[in-house]
This record gives sequence, C-alpha cells and structure tokens, in this order.
Amino acid sequence: MRWKEKLIIALDVSDAQKALDIVERLSDYTAVFKVGFELFTTAGPKIVEEIHKKGKEVFLDLKFHDIPNTVSKAAAAAAKMGVYMFNVHTSGGFEMMKRCRDSVSGICAKDNIRMPKIIGVTVLTSLNNEALKGEVGIQHSLRNHVKHLASLAVKAGLDGVVASPHEISIIKQHCGKDFLVVTPGIRPSWTPPDDQQRTATPKEALKKGADYIVMGRGILQQEDPIKALELISLEILTA
Ligand code: C5P
Repeated sequence: MRWKEKLIIALDVSDAQKALDIVERLSDYTAVFKVGFELFTTAGPKIVEEIHKKGKEVFLDLKFHDIPNTVSKAAAAAAKMGVYMFNVHTSGGFEMMKRCRDSVSGICAKDNIRMPKIIGVTVLTSLNNEALKGEVGIQHSLRNHVKHLASLAVKAGLDGVVASPHEISIIKQHCGKDFLVVTPGIRPSWTPPDDQQRTATPKEALKKGADYIVMGRGILQQEDPIKALELISLEILTA
C-alpha cells in the first residue's frame, strides 16, 4: 500500500467552501478527508455529500459518546450517509460500542450499504500520563489504559481504534495485526506539536505500523500545503 493511501487529511476549517477548495487542491494526495466537529457543525451533512460528489471518501470524526440507544441511532445515520469510517469513544463502554456495531450492520444489510469502518477513540492524543491521572482520574498508566480500551473495542466488534503513534505496537501485539490503528498527533519534523502531546512524524508512525495517519495543521497551516506534502513524501520515501 502506498503511503498516500494511508493518509487522511483533516478538514479542520469553518466553512464548506474552504473545505471543498482543500479537497479539490489536495485531491491527488489522499482518498479520504476527515470531517470533524467544526466543519460538521457549520456545514451539516451536506458537506459529506459534496465530498462524495468529488469522488472522495469521508472519515466522519464526531466521536460519539452517549447512551447506547442514542449512539446506535447516530451510528446508523452515519452509515446511511455512506461514510468510509466514523468513530465512537471507547470510554462509552462495551454495551454502547456493541449496540453501535449491531445497528450499523443491521442497517447496512437491510439497505444494501457498504459497511463503514467503526473506530473507537481510546485516549486523546492531547492528553499525557499526568493529565490522564490528575485530571481524568485514571489510576493506571496511559499505555495500560489504551490497551484496556482497545481490548474492549475488539470484544465489541469494532474495526480498530484511534490512538497515538506511541501505542501502535502495544495495540497490535494485544489486538492482532488486522485490528486497525488510526493515529492523529502526527507532526513533520519541522512543525510544532501545538496542543498534541503524544506525537510522531509521519515516517515514524508508518514505520511503527499505523494503518492510517491523520494530519491537519502539519499540512493545512503550512504556507504551501502541497510543498509540505511533497516534503513529507520525500522524508517517508528516503531510507
Ligand atoms: O491539526 P492536527 O494534525 O493536530 O489534527 C488532528 C486531527 O485529528 C484533529 O481534527 C483532531 O480533532 C483529530 N483527532 C485527534 N485525536 C483523537 C481523535 C481525533 O487529534 N484522538
């Protein structure tokens, strides 16, 4: 698989036109664009339709986290939109993830829709060990907590998890090599970490076995995003 097939570009912008301009401009560099809270809240489901019209796939990053009934209905709605991938918080618990998975397979079978990949968010890449313990109140280590949440996602039938590049090997060891790991917190060597705590370069993340790398500011906030993508490509392809 070429590295560009593993790249997901985060459309973290505030309006539909800006997002569609980016899709158009960077279309040769990825097949999947991520629609998160900011864009979905301003542009609504229509943005997903517009991206599809341009022949591109959508990772709907709305991180559902609610009671099982609510999440399973939101998940069915996401599946009906034809998204390639969407996510839920694993900390919503086993029952929430399981009901989500069941409702999506039900609706996909009934309406003959392609099954989206359902991904569980483990510990946000903006948190570190101290914040997880001191603020969120989790007493065991971040790595163990990610491992625990990833195992729960496997049991509930999810396709993979979102985690930092630092936890790829422990997840693959524990959950199997086919269990997908989607990694944000990706920063080329020449960009600042911003609010991300557990970061790695695109090359490091891919080398550790990431199935997908999600990149926003490391591309979109560069003076010339295409030049940034070419530099990243060069960095990845040189041994
Ligand atoms: O700009 P940057 O590359 O840090 O953007 C990362 C993207 O990945 C953001 O859209 C953020 O919402 C998303 N994300 C994340 N951590 C997660 C899940 C999604 O940073 N655990």
